[in-house]
Amino acid sequence: MHGEIDQVRNEALAALAAAQTSSALAEWHSHYLGRRGVLTQLMRQISQIPPTERPAYGQAVNALKEELSAAFTARQQEVSAQELAQQLAAETVDVTLPGRQPTLGTLHPVTAMIREVTGIFARLGFQVVEGPEVEYSAYAFDALNIPQDHPARDVWDTIYIDSPGREIVLRPHTSPMQIRVMEQRQPPIRVVVPGRCYRYEAVDATHEWHFHQIEGLAVDEHITMADLKGTLAAFARQLFGQERRVRFRCDYFPFVEPGVDFAIDCMFCHGEGCRVCKGTGWIEILGAGMVHPQVLRNVGYDPERYTGWAFGMGVERLVMLKYGVPDIRLFYQGDLRFLAQFSRTTVW
Ligand code: DAH
Repeated sequence: MHGEIDQVRNEALAALAAAQTSSALAEWHSHYLGRRGVLTQLMRQISQIPPTERPAYGQAVNALKEELSAAFTARQQEVSAQELAQQLAAETVDVTLPGRQPTLGTLHPVTAMIREVTGIFARLGFQVVEGPEVEYSAYAFDALNIPQDHPARDVWDTIYIDSPGREIVLRPHTSPMQIRVMEQRQPPIRVVVPGRCYRYEAVDATHEWHFHQIEGLAVDEHITMADLKGTLAAFARQLFGQERRVRFRCDYFPFVEPGVDFAIDCMFCHGEGCRVCKGTGWIEILGAGMVHPQVLRNVGYDPERYTGWAFGMGVERLVMLKYGVPDIRLFYQGDLRFLAQFSRTTVW
């Protein structure tokens, strides 16, 4: 009988040494030490043994049981240590790997230009204000000295909104904010107004049906054309280079008198004449002029006491001139190959 015990011992210890995982160990345990396991069966066989040998047999089986239990506990510790080591190795994070670079967004070139221009005027003492894109005709035209049946109204190809009662438009320029600001405040006024405008326009390389303007307005006692010229020259030189020469020529806008067209010498050919300035040596930047006395009267200002000037410029045009963009449609096609080229433009 002892021979069998020895055989079970050898087999069990060999199987234990071969068990590599905790589930193999659990199987081993139920096979040898479980309630119906090999050891229980060995113990049951005691009835087939001559009574005199039973105590020795029982002791031997019990001793084996203890030995195997102890061996099991030891092996269990080894295996769980091994398993932990394997798990740690598998789950290792290499903290020295460089991270994935997130793609950084950039400001749209029109947004960047609005910030640059309004920044220049802010440093000249102007406040930045914004107004509605959906506007009353009364503000977009009438109060600006463009009456209903005046031919000048045709200059602005306006998109009208179906509205019973007061006529409403998508503003075709930022000039209506001149009226809104003057209605709400008393002079001195110095504001710039960036904003989106809309026109019923056949789209081509230089025309979009929606675009941006920046309006300027200064009203106070003793404001003269000289202030306008000095301010616009300072602005143009900050944006396009200190060496810029400036030109003011007569032009017509119903809300100013006199009205001017403001140009700088071409920064590409320095006045020689090239493709950008269409051979003239000059590039027109904006329209401006002394606020028409009728416009001042329309907001209840006394034109004998107050004078002022205003200007309006197209933002896309400024970006096109500054960076040589050939087609206005590029701004609104969402093509990142175009937009990403402006990632280094100045912003604040
Ligand atoms: N609002 C004009 C336009 O859209 C631009 C303009 C011209 C604005 C002269 C002004 C100005 O304030 O004085 O064509």
